[in-house]
Amino acid sequence: MRSHSEKENKSSELNWKRFVPMTGGRCKMDLHIMKKVDQILSEFELSKEELKEVMGRMQREMHRGLRVETHNEASVKMLPTYVCSTPEGSEVGDFLALDLGGTNFRVMLVMVGEDEERGWKVETKHHMYSIPEDAMTGTAEMLFDYIAECISDFLDKHHIKHKKLPLGFTFSFPVRHEDLDKGILLNWTKGFKASGAEGNNIVGLLRDAIKRRGDFEMDVVAMVNDTVATMISCYYEDRSCEVGMIVGTGCNVCYMEEMHMVELVEGEEGRMCVNTEWGAFGDNGELEDFRLEYDRVVDESSLNPGHQLYEKLISGKYMGELVRLVLMKLVNEDLLFNGEASETLKTRGSFETRFVSQIESDTGDRKQIYNILSSLGVLPSELDCDIVRLACESVSTRAAHMCGAGLAGVVNLMRERRCLDEWKITVGVDGSVYKLHPRFKDLFHKTVRELTPNGDITFIQSEEGSGRGAALISAVACKMAARIITP
Ligand code: GLC
Repeated sequence: MRSHSEKENKSSELNWKRFVPMTGGRCKMDLHIMKKVDQILSEFELSKEELKEVMGRMQREMHRGLRVETHNEASVKMLPTYVCSTPEGSEVGDFLALDLGGTNFRVMLVMVGEDEERGWKVETKHHMYSIPEDAMTGTAEMLFDYIAECISDFLDKHHIKHKKLPLGFTFSFPVRHEDLDKGILLNWTKGFKASGAEGNNIVGLLRDAIKRRGDFEMDVVAMVNDTVATMISCYYEDRSCEVGMIVGTGCNVCYMEEMHMVELVEGEEGRMCVNTEWGAFGDNGELEDFRLEYDRVVDESSLNPGHQLYEKLISGKYMGELVRLVLMKLVNEDLLFNGEASETLKTRGSFETRFVSQIESDTGDRKQIYNILSSLGVLPSELDCDIVRLACESVSTRAAHMCGAGLAGVVNLMRERRCLDEWKITVGVDGSVYKLHPRFKDLFHKTVRELTPNGDITFIQSEEGSGRGAALISAVACKMAARIITP
């Protein structure tokens, strides 16, 4: 790990000034504490040079993931999705879309239609179901039976049980596709652990569960990752959208790659969307010199130790816990809460990621911070509140910088492929951290732009991207199937 003195010599271009008292001055004792706190938190800072290094390492792993020779050992798997650039139009009509990948499962009815001005339009009705812990960590059969039960409930609610609708499934885990509607789950991520799913065709598991229920029928036509669904839904708004990114419970990116570079799939023409699964970057040791003691504890106590190490630095599943560990360190150093933490704060998982956003959104009167900390069983002083805010800022700023370095790697790689000096690209983004955290977006955009000097990058936020994207790709798939059957 780097020493503090090394850190002091770094370029400060991307650093933010943390040493601003929120109101008035500080007494000598407070300043002494703040200095020590600052020293501890400075470990989270990353210089531009370090971010360039992360970007370069990410690009190397991406290359290795694409090549047949190195694919198996690469940490970034670069999975072909069978979503291609295609001039085909799409079917119009009703589609069912499912979205599984976070803490909730959603079922949507998407009406894809033609629109005189833009050539298409989509309208949605949706319902959210929370996934019980035992369905997430029991057997695959239990999980997919629960999913089928939710679909059945949704169809009842909308009086459409008699219809056999085409279905698009957004399944946000690493899947090795053999076709658009066939793919094997490589490994669970984000706290899912249902046994008997890894190594199996996910669409098959869904079809079996629907058959077991026997009270409705569905025609599963497409399965996509959430990054892919996001990109597709944004593409319909902006035809330059060729990248999809999620920063929510997990963190991942997909992009349109030249077909001849996707060695795992035959064919040379056009482009195919690649699901990078970049969350696993670092699993071969590429991030060892950046990971801190808190990252190691988060990883060791997770359901998948040693895996998804880049994701664990960034995403919402882990951000709150990282902050909690930092707070515990400050308590143990006698710099916070008079050296004493409450039982709640000592408990793993008690500091939720949404608290990080809420604390950083505090307007300066510390009310919000005070309320959150009181709900965790501590009675903070003003100084405590300010220190907790700094801890949140350190963790979320590092997340935004790390994530920005990764995306800059993707964008620069795409530019090189297309042999362009300057170019315009749009990135479609979704996810709670990106959308709800008050500073993540700006810090992330700034990092990406600083590391992609010749790029003109537009970020668009996707609305209902997971469901709409799955329905839209299903509509294209139906059109293509119809074309093959009736030439
Ligand atoms: C995890 C999953 C990935 C997904 C991402 C965002 O990284 O492995 O498939 O896209 O979370 O939900």
